[in-house]
Amino acid sequence: MAFPPSFIDELIARNPIEDVVGQRVNLRRSGSNLFGLCPFHGEKTASFSVAPDKGIYYCFGCHKGGGAINFVMELEGLSYPDAVRNLAERCGMEVPEDEQYQSRYRQQERLWALHKEAARFFHSQLYAPVGKAALAYAIGRGMPKSVLIKFGIGYAPDSWDALIKALRSKGYTDEELKESGLVTVSQKSGNLFDRFRDRLMFPIIDIRGNIIGFGGRIMNNKDPNAAKYLNSPETLIFNKRKNLFGLNFAKKSKLGYLILVEGYMDAIALHQHGFDCAVASLGTSLTQEHAVLISRYVEQVVLIYDGDEAGQRATRRAIPILEKAGIQVKVLKMRDAKDPDEYLKKFGADKFRLLLEDSSNRVEYQLNAIKSKYDLREDDQKIRYVHESAELISTLPSSVQREVYGGRIAEAAGISTEAMQLEVKKAYKRRLERERKQQEKIDLAPVQSLQPKVRTVRYDNMKSAMAEEKILANALQDPSLMDQAKGLKGDRFSVELLGRVYDQLYTLYKNGLEVTLAAVADLTPEEMSHIAGVCQRQDGPVSETAFTDCVNTVLGISQAAMVSTDADLLAFRNKLRESKGTKS
Ligand code: CTP
Ligand code: MN
Repeated sequence: MAFPPSFIDELIARNPIEDVVGQRVNLRRSGSNLFGLCPFHGEKTASFSVAPDKGIYYCFGCHKGGGAINFVMELEGLSYPDAVRNLAERCGMEVPEDEQYQSRYRQQERLWALHKEAARFFHSQLYAPVGKAALAYAIGRGMPKSVLIKFGIGYAPDSWDALIKALRSKGYTDEELKESGLVTVSQKSGNLFDRFRDRLMFPIIDIRGNIIGFGGRIMNNKDPNAAKYLNSPETLIFNKRKNLFGLNFAKKSKLGYLILVEGYMDAIALHQHGFDCAVASLGTSLTQEHAVLISRYVEQVVLIYDGDEAGQRATRRAIPILEKAGIQVKVLKMRDAKDPDEYLKKFGADKFRLLLEDSSNRVEYQLNAIKSKYDLREDDQKIRYVHESAELISTLPSSVQREVYGGRIAEAAGISTEAMQLEVKKAYKRRLERERKQQEKIDLAPVQSLQPKVRTVRYDNMKSAMAEEKILANALQDPSLMDQAKGLKGDRFSVELLGRVYDQLYTLYKNGLEVTLAAVADLTPEEMSHIAGVCQRQDGPVSETAFTDCVNTVLGISQAAMVSTDADLLAFRNKLRESKGTKS
């Protein structure tokens, strides 16, 4: 969606990057940059930088970066236009909405309204004569009327067109019905049919409170092939990778953590028993998007997946995803019940609370996982157990932790704590050595290390690419340099992305607009991060001759290259290190 460039120009001017970031991150000045703890990944030392003069942020740890708009997009999980709106509101500007966006937004609004209507219909059917068995089923599963109302539970009657009729009577077109995903279209006749038939319906609500889809549970086994749960397909408003069941309630919880479970019924049962911080994924495994969404509300998650093998696998998978988003993970293992719903019904909330307080943290969980692999009655297995545990313990930053966990392993393996400590020390040394060797490899292959972290961007001509990077960084610092660029155009760049950005900077400059990275449009977040990294690494004074040299390199005019020898590359890399060093 395209906003007028002059509008974006003013928007960026009125939202200084240090203010926008500063609202969410504690920043400290160091030289011309500000540093703080990165909001996008968990860290203890500040590698997140903000350059007010360039209007960008960049994290040297996770390599995320961009301008004010990107920051809001990343942090709030908003689309580009929504982030623009957010910033406009922040500084009291009116947004010139364009035709295309407006029609898309109107379409979304219609779908939200349609879903609300559908939920009303389903809910009413629960109390109608056709819903008698469904109501009995819901009550039989322990949901009192208050819970049915709170979660908007409903019933999709056993009919091919009950919902279709209800929605048509409210003025929804067949086109809209198809877009909603609540109907299916017959391949043969093109006729519409209700997707959900004879199912208990769970509305899925987003964080803004809009109903965006449904999950429907079968209540009998007439058809042994029918899926137990059927969910809405992906639509303009429903993306199961980005939404969680119950988050509309859980985000308001005062408990300070989230409980992540597998099933709708688990989440509902938890809410019912006072654990108002429960959410469930929507029939998919946890995604990085989910984790980032969660990290906006809490720093701690208790994972309670089903006790079966699949649930344990899902747990192991989810831990690193959550940790990557800076979330501390605890794991609760269900015993004598297959899931939280069943546990609460069998043993009640108080027992569950005890379990919750007892839930082990990640290290314990991982150590248990290691232990379960070995038979400690066998000497050789015992040795491997100690060895592998020591590897894990050696990664712990606190010596107290290392001692406590080391002690436990020693006890389990029947060795002395001193012997265990020695093992941990050895493991630590081995790890340092491995890391040193890795670093050496990088040092010896400087060209390799300059390859972008973004998968979609490759530097095939390193010499030209380094010059192109420098051109961008310099042009951003002093746009008038572009007057000396001998008519350079983006299509002469060896790296398409860098050329594309150059063209946009040039256009901004020629139109008398502020030349900042934040004003560059149509980049993916990864691309934006890469460019921000390029600019943030290239510091120091701008010189006209250096700039012209770069232009020549790109145009292939002279052999005077910026980065032509290994020595140059090493110098470049050292500079990169220095700029990283300024963080502490
Ligand atoms: N699920 C799904 N499609 C299926 C089965 C399950 O989308 N065919 C999703 C649903 O979101 C469900 C979750 O996976 O809530 C967990 O599935 P499961 O453990 O089988 O169901 P329960 O939550 O235990 O459901 P119930 O208690 O109603 O049997
Ligand atoms: Mn269940």
